Amino acid sequence: MAPSILSADFANLAAEVHRVAGEADLLHVDVMDGHFVPNLTIGPPVVASLRKATDLYLDCHLMVDNPGVLLDDFARAGANSCTIHVELGDPRPLFDRMRKSGMGVGLTLNPATPLADVLPYMAEIDILLFMSVHPGFGGQAFIPEVLDKLAEARKLVDEQGLSVELEIDGGIKVDNARAAALAGADILVAGSAIFHAADPAAATRQIREAAWASSS
Ligand code: DX5
Ligand code: ZN
Repeated sequence: MAPSILSADFANLAAEVHRVAGEADLLHVDVMDGHFVPNLTIGPPVVASLRKATDLYLDCHLMVDNPGVLLDDFARAGANSCTIHVELGDPRPLFDRMRKSGMGVGLTLNPATPLADVLPYMAEIDILLFMSVHPGFGGQAFIPEVLDKLAEARKLVDEQGLSVELEIDGGIKVDNARAAALAGADILVAGSAIFHAADPAAATRQIREAAWASSS
């Protein structure tokens, strides 16, 4: 489970993180530059502050036009991984830089981007993130067609014995978590369903249980 702090109270970020820490496996950090997506959020200084506030894995999702200029700053800030968008073009030079700086390597694709676009990189990444909303904002409706791509990737990862983890991001809630898990997700990101709940830890647990309790 990866709570997305995009829907947390940014003025009380450490407290918000501590509210979910017991139920979170990683913390999803949505970085937006106002260009790649219309929204503008946070960057390396906030990651550095989060690093001091928690030991959780910081899973940084870079929705920015030019991630290359930020990678060193994210590494120094204590990001555990950075995930970049395949829509920007050949990601390999950035993979090398992420590895050299000790970060995990993530690649992501928008709902309309075909799975074929990420297939050349499957053996080189740690995380493949499926966007199940159009990136930019929390609280949007889940796009169920993305599950077909996810299932196809699951099959490929299993057949080839790859070590990439499949993550899905956008519109995840109790009522679609099971479908995402059955399609093959290893990691569920949820923002509004967690941080807009009265009890974010309980909401995280409920999504996890809906997805994986007594499943194979
Ligand atoms: C959207 C972000 C998501 C967002 C998900 O661009 O990448 O991580 O926080 O929020 P919900 O779970 O509310 O759709
Ligand atoms: Zn995200």
